Amino acid sequence: MLRSNTCGELTISNVGSEVILCGWVQRSRDLGGMTFIDLRDRYGLTQLVFNMETNSNLCLEARKLGREFVLKVAGKVAERSNKNLKMPTGEIEIIVDNFEILNASITPPFTIEEQTDGGDDIRMKYRYLDLRRSTVRANLELRHRIAIETRNYLDRERFLEVETPVLIKSTPEGARDFVVPSRMNQGQFYALPQSPQTFKQLLMVAGFDRYYQIVKCFRDEDLRSDRQPEFTQIDCEMSFVDREDILQTFEGMVRHLFKSVKGIEIPELPRMTYADAMKNYGCDKPDIRFAMKFVEMTDLVKGKGFKVFDDADIVIGINAEGCSEYTRKQLDELTEFIKKPQIGANGLIYLKYNLDGTIKSSVDKFYSAEELQKWADLFGAKKGDLLLLLAGDTHKTRNAMNELRLEMGTRLGLRDKNKFQCLWVVDFPLLEFGEEANRWFAMHHPFTSPLPEDLHLLEKNPGEIRANAYDMVINGVEVGGGSIRIHNKQLQQQMFGILGFTPEEAHYQFGFLLNAFEYGAPPHGGIAFGLDRLCSLFGGSDSIRDFIAFPKNNSGRDVMIDAPSLIHPEQLKELGIDLKS
Ligand code: AMO
Repeated sequence: MLRSNTCGELTISNVGSEVILCGWVQRSRDLGGMTFIDLRDRYGLTQLVFNMETNSNLCLEARKLGREFVLKVAGKVAERSNKNLKMPTGEIEIIVDNFEILNASITPPFTIEEQTDGGDDIRMKYRYLDLRRSTVRANLELRHRIAIETRNYLDRERFLEVETPVLIKSTPEGARDFVVPSRMNQGQFYALPQSPQTFKQLLMVAGFDRYYQIVKCFRDEDLRSDRQPEFTQIDCEMSFVDREDILQTFEGMVRHLFKSVKGIEIPELPRMTYADAMKNYGCDKPDIRFAMKFVEMTDLVKGKGFKVFDDADIVIGINAEGCSEYTRKQLDELTEFIKKPQIGANGLIYLKYNLDGTIKSSVDKFYSAEELQKWADLFGAKKGDLLLLLAGDTHKTRNAMNELRLEMGTRLGLRDKNKFQCLWVVDFPLLEFGEEANRWFAMHHPFTSPLPEDLHLLEKNPGEIRANAYDMVINGVEVGGGSIRIHNKQLQQQMFGILGFTPEEAHYQFGFLLNAFEYGAPPHGGIAFGLDRLCSLFGGSDSIRDFIAFPKNNSGRDVMIDAPSLIHPEQLKELGIDLKS
């Protein structure tokens, strides 16, 4: 080893020791007779001191060192006169005897400190420099810890980690595939897996019983702060289990992660049906850190001559407690918010239950004071509360109210990043109808089993069937999803039929799975967690990018290596691809 210690471990107990450190110059300060340098490595920062009086040559050499030079430094640990108790090494410094420049650095394009002056783009271009910053590094350390504890838990539960292929077959379900042309089979393409779904099911047919894999998945879909084109799943599957076994096992995993990584005890996870989630929160991944449940008031408000309500399929509201003093400006802001094209509501109606007991609403003209009091009573509102109401088509209105509820939760400080509320959402619909394609689509994936009690609806009323599927939601983020699978060939074929596959197409796409089901497929089910999302939740960030060493930007580009990029015409020729035709 070139060094005796790291830059993060020397404390007052090491005073007097001769040490050798290696690291990068984070910053230097010349204070007349003294020069101070903060030396950084993965473990922390240590202050180096050069004294003009005792060693002027060395001090003059030190003054020439620029930011990010790589040094090997020998010296003695001394107690600092000016202590910094905020950092672990803040009570000591190194009186340097000599140093060696291991490598020089040109001036970095942004400051590599906890707080940086670098914008997003420049930091992505120089990601290796951004990764030197302690905050970014801590995110990856957290990721490592979560991965290790995941493996510890699953290993203890007798899961086997098995790798599945990355070059697989394109399938029409789900998101778009990334495809890879084959040189040896010209005109044919592999696809990168959107998940190892069919392989893990085949591992169950193979008798592996409990499988997991921390695995890269690829989806060519529109990107958001919680979506990357390549991301990582903790992918799991079990045989001879029912839904309850899976929920218990993976609830156990998440509780283990919270305990071992964050020191937080998570109580037993509540469960909510999809139908209740939609009715009470307008989305299938409710943030239950705060209540503010939807109240349906359709019957109460119709028939009084207010056209917006009379024409609406649904009228719903939320109670923003303690907000009756909201100003015109604040209410206008909320109206603007729900009218944004991505939310698409037409207008916002409010009722203020003032502190003096009077009630004021934006539709006073149509409703008497007694009627408005009934509204307030329906919500259980108190003096000082503000009711916010939306009306219209059921789906759109619930959707918009979900956004408004989250916005109010944020404004009222009810979405504390250090507080965690986990839940299971269960009983999803099996299918959803795609108007454009005029056919049914699997809401989870085509291998999901219906709830046994809904199987009889398969022929006549597929839209009513509930799936034996579940999602884990933490703080309004879908961190994992899975299902009990179909393990019977006939039922799987029937499902493909409902999804619009002819028997030939089903055989072409999924013949391998249908065949496997003829050789004694055990009942099985599983789940996959988004590792990146778990990390960002644990790390208190909204963006998964911060927890990926080399992420893509919102246009799916890696701006550091400049990918995707053109390839050489020779390469195209070898692949038999003619871009001109
Ligand atoms: P699903 O498609 O629900 O299920 O994905 C499982 C989990 O993966 C995470 N996730 C993503 N994370 C980051 N970027 C993305 N683009 C992205 N897409 C999904 C989410 C999600 O909950 N094979 C099934 C699982 C199963 O049935 O066992 C599957 O992939 O956290």
